[in-house]
Amino acid sequence: MKLYAIAITGIIAIQSVAATGGNNFTRRCSRLLETFKAPNTNVLWSGYTSKGTNVTYPNLHPTCGQNWVVAQANMCRLSLNVTTSSTSNVIMEVWMPEDWETSGKRFAMTGNGGVGGCFALGDLAFTTSLGFTTVGHNNGHDGLSAAPFLNRPEVIKDFAWRATLIATQVGKAATNFFYQTPLAKSYYWGCSGGGRQGMKIAQDFPEEYDGIIAANPAADFHRLIAGALYFGYQTGPPTYPTWLSFEQWLAVDAEVLAQCDTIDGVADLVLEDPLRCHPRFESMLCGQLETWTTHRCLTAAQVSAVEKIYSPVYGNKGRFVAPAFQPGNDQVFGFYLVYGAPSDLGVEYIRYAVKNDATWNLPGTVDEFLEIMDDLLDHDPYKVSANNPNLTPLKTSGHKLLVYHGTSDGYYSHENTIRLYENTAKNMTLKAKQLDDFYRLFPISGLHHCNKGNGAWYFGGPSQHGLGISGVDPNDSLIMKMVRWVENGEAPDTVRGHHIDPITGKPTGAVRDHCRHPFKNTYKGSGDPLSPESWECRLGTKYP
Ligand SMILES: *[C@@H]1O[C@H](CO)[C@@H](O)[C@H](O)[C@H]1NC(C)=O
Ligand SMILES: *[C@@H]1O[C@H](CO)[C@@H](O)[C@H](O)[C@H]1NC(C)=O
Ligand SMILES: *[C@@H]1O[C@H](CO)[C@@H](O)[C@H](O)[C@H]1NC(C)=O
Ligand SMILES: *[C@@H]1O[C@H](CO)[C@@H](O)[C@H](O)[C@H]1NC(C)=O
Ligand SMILES: *[C@@H]1O[C@H](CO)[C@@H](O)[C@H](O)[C@H]1NC(C)=O
Repeated sequence: MKLYAIAITGIIAIQSVAATGGNNFTRRCSRLLETFKAPNTNVLWSGYTSKGTNVTYPNLHPTCGQNWVVAQANMCRLSLNVTTSSTSNVIMEVWMPEDWETSGKRFAMTGNGGVGGCFALGDLAFTTSLGFTTVGHNNGHDGLSAAPFLNRPEVIKDFAWRATLIATQVGKAATNFFYQTPLAKSYYWGCSGGGRQGMKIAQDFPEEYDGIIAANPAADFHRLIAGALYFGYQTGPPTYPTWLSFEQWLAVDAEVLAQCDTIDGVADLVLEDPLRCHPRFESMLCGQLETWTTHRCLTAAQVSAVEKIYSPVYGNKGRFVAPAFQPGNDQVFGFYLVYGAPSDLGVEYIRYAVKNDATWNLPGTVDEFLEIMDDLLDHDPYKVSANNPNLTPLKTSGHKLLVYHGTSDGYYSHENTIRLYENTAKNMTLKAKQLDDFYRLFPISGLHHCNKGNGAWYFGGPSQHGLGISGVDPNDSLIMKMVRWVENGEAPDTVRGHHIDPITGKPTGAVRDHCRHPFKNTYKGSGDPLSPESWECRLGTKYP
């Protein structure tokens, strides 16, 4: 930790330099171009931006998708280029709202997704609207692909942890400098790859944030890659007898629901606890002379592939490599199916970051592939994984970690996140009751990977903004729950989610209070299942 701090010590000194421009917010903002100095930092642009402005990024990498967002607050926008080594740099934006001083003097950092370097523009706009200074950054490279990692170890290091740390430190320095008053509290929030970044902070740099929200964290990063690629080995390409069409996968999901939806007492297309679902697929086998076309059944080869995918993956020496594919994934088969080929994310990551060979391709057999996975799990190159169970420094700091994970995640099973929690309990010899002081995990039923789903999935979490959803009070958002935990000591026992109509983007009225692990949300046996009053958080394994 101390080692990394050396690079930024000079920042403290410049805080005493007065910003010029008097009290005029607009003038002080545009003058940041000349006045703001930090080590290794180039100011690219600064300027006042009023609420309602369509902020556009014409140079954003095309794989990042939407390159604009509407500002939701009057603010000062500062764009920076920070050199992180002689061969790497981070591009970052600091959004500083006009009402910051009367809104709690808070600082927020947003995360990135996948292996990517795309700004979470919706999240950036959202916390700025709540009065937080908010930072977004490109994680050291542009776009969603791992290709920029080829021959650039320093860029991989930025992706693994350094970009988030440096953007944090420069962002805080810019905030303190611009307002000429120290920020009060700092918050991190990110989903998926951004969840991994959050866990990394909790494990290695807990002093940086008072509150950390890590959502669907792809923390055990190599197990994410392993699961993604293993899936492809079992189905093969579309010409193989083990391949299933998308329609056939939908039938598999329907079979899972038929077997497991009512385990929790309510048939609602949502598995409250998928870990209790152990589907059997021989029920889908075609009989003599039956085919998919005539009877919507599967061949024995297909059923075998499905069984393997819904089972845990073990390496050649018996080591646990990845959990079973999440049952009740709500028709989201992640990156596995979209390509009709192995996951791009997995192949590109190994090709560019691990093998550093643009011509590398997946080996022909699953055993050779598992050997690579064993090696990655042994060595964790660049320390990309955020699976250190020892959160003693976080506990000592008094800072808070709120983790949640959708249980319909067709990319990365929430089982990974529960395993990490249990490993922490054992490593620190702390019971859940004691972990509750600083680390709370909420499995969210019916939430996919970050957003959407059949359940009550919306609570204003990271990556849930910018989707055109309206009708839920921003004061009820998760980040404000975190603020109340950090600043008022009101620890959240549940997370209230709203189901959202996918067409209108408005709440349907279905609400659930998701329980924290190890409690299970349990239907009381009567009452409207769409109302939170009909459920309670219970310990134990039996539903009524
Ligand atoms: C602040 O400065 C801007 C630009 O220099 C100017 O347009 C504006 O009128 C000033 N506002 C006040 C309240 O003085
Ligand atoms: C913002 O600008 C972009 C790029 O010009 C445009 O595509 C988008 O529709 C605009 N959004 C709004 C809400 O005006
Ligand atoms: C950022 O700085 C690096 C040097 O560290 C430079 O190579 C790069 O072109 C700069 N990027 C921008 C957008 O200014
Ligand atoms: C806890 O985790 C740390 C870091 O991974 C490890 O060094 C230590 O041996 C673990 N302690 C126990 C009791 O498992
Ligand atoms: C949120 O709470 C703040 C402070 O309590 C209040 O000023 C603001 O109007 C609230 N916002 C909404 C949308 O209710």
